[in-house]
Amino acid sequence: MVALAEKAPVRLTMQTVEIAPNTTAIRSLDWDRDRFDIEFALENGTTYNSFLIRGDKVALVDTSHEKFRQLYLATLTELINPAEIDYLVISHTEPDHSGLVKDVLQLNPHITVVGAKVAMQFLDDLVHQPFQRMLVKSGDRLDLGQGHELEFVSAPNLHWPDTILTYDHGTHTLFTCDVFGMHYCDDQTYDEDLALLDADYKTYYDCLMGPNARSVLSALKRMGDLPEITTIATGHGPLLRHHIPELVGRYRDWSQAQAKAATTVALFYMSEYGCSDRLAQAIAHGIAKTDVVVEMVDFQMADPQEVRELVDMAAGVVIGMPPQSGTYASHTQALLSTILAASHAKQAFGLFEAGGGDDESVYPLRNRLQEIGVIEVFPPILIKETPNESTYQLCDEAGTDMGQWLNRDRSIKQIKSIDNDLEKALGRISGGLYIITAKKGEASSAMLASWVSQASLEPLGVSIAVAKDRAIESFMHVGDRFVLNVLEEGNYQPLMKHFLKRFPPGADRFAEIKTYAANNGCPILADALAYLECEVVSRMEGSDHWIVYSKVDVGRVSKPDALTAIHHRKVGNHY
Ligand code: FEO
Repeated sequence: MVALAEKAPVRLTMQTVEIAPNTTAIRSLDWDRDRFDIEFALENGTTYNSFLIRGDKVALVDTSHEKFRQLYLATLTELINPAEIDYLVISHTEPDHSGLVKDVLQLNPHITVVGAKVAMQFLDDLVHQPFQRMLVKSGDRLDLGQGHELEFVSAPNLHWPDTILTYDHGTHTLFTCDVFGMHYCDDQTYDEDLALLDADYKTYYDCLMGPNARSVLSALKRMGDLPEITTIATGHGPLLRHHIPELVGRYRDWSQAQAKAATTVALFYMSEYGCSDRLAQAIAHGIAKTDVVVEMVDFQMADPQEVRELVDMAAGVVIGMPPQSGTYASHTQALLSTILAASHAKQAFGLFEAGGGDDESVYPLRNRLQEIGVIEVFPPILIKETPNESTYQLCDEAGTDMGQWLNRDRSIKQIKSIDNDLEKALGRISGGLYIITAKKGEASSAMLASWVSQASLEPLGVSIAVAKDRAIESFMHVGDRFVLNVLEEGNYQPLMKHFLKRFPPGADRFAEIKTYAANNGCPILADALAYLECEVVSRMEGSDHWIVYSKVDVGRVSKPDALTAIHHRKVGNHY
């Protein structure tokens, strides 16, 4: 094992370790990375794992993030003369794994790049130079010699359409890139201590894999045809060796639960066009908060028959407009017609622009869907500028609106289903009335809360129960800061009325409300009786709420003799 370097202020180090005969892991450890894609806050950094397999022929599986250019290439060339590398297996083309493909090809232009067909299309745009290629699909094999026979397994939509898994029959190692990964940076190469990893493994699944639960189940089925797997060599975080059945089983259980849910939304986007994939992920994230399953479909990869079946079965359809010209224009036009033909009255729909500059207009499609009787549950999201945090927040909230709309009957049924005495008894638990206010970059949010309680003395801390489908939930992850505004008895109606309103996706909750900034940057409501500046320390997952425990750093009361507004309820089965 070699620790090569450490740089301040961002700590980037390398680790190399033999994980099986003639198989070396080259792990790029990014200790301080704190953000990954849309609102995916990282608490424990991440790693980018690459692997070298030496038979008679040599294969490199994935590379690293470009921020590791110097460190990764120095480590690789210490391990092997690049001229000896025959194959570069591309599991997935996002830049955290393929950021140095071009550099590796510059070191040895004769390398054959191995990957899915769609991966090659992405790589052409990334590398901008000709390279030798080998297209592979499920069941294809590549013999490196000395027992290292590689078999490929297609895993589209985990979480990109280009994903392949690679199994080495010689070492029983399955190289999975993003699949079964987690954002967890540590010197430990393997998954020894499961308790340390539980939360990150689940968050990662929820953000990247959960939205494609059906695709996860299909990939697991294909994996089931492989012989024994003793190591899962992931692309992020520790490799799995000690808890493989348990951790693979969790993917199966979570995905089955997702896929079994009665309600599904079909979400169409166009990878590699504008920000379509990022916007689609934000919408999917918002929908998934409501326990509705999202099936994401890339226009480029879609099969018309599958699209027809999916749209026919789905309760909701979201479409990211594809480009009106280019290589795929006739294919996407045909698919839009298929979607229209399979749509039916009472289905929910939403449209968004992909922000690629050549988007099909949303309006002709919108008119035709409305003629069918399909119900628009959020207004078209029209992207005029490069998306920022506010754009992603808007998409997330639009997704949540769709999910809540689809769940509306279920919510009413739940309210009616609780035993009468029990609901009255539960209603005797009262709480205060509070407004939580939060700001992250350009994005801000607020929520009326009453399930709030002091929860510790050293440090001073509070617990707050937040429904999983609330927009503010995204602002209350570990390390996030917010303000808890305490409302005043006899003077809370205007604020309560304002924040109880149903805001359209992305709306500014603070327009026409007097605020000033707290030390932590979040808005303090000028008309609140008191405020507390809080930082989230931990979260406990309940069935439909997160219990968020936060320490309190600063607080102030504006009227020392005034009392806190109290929320008295008659029943406990809703707010
Ligand atoms: Fe780790 Fe999807 O890249």
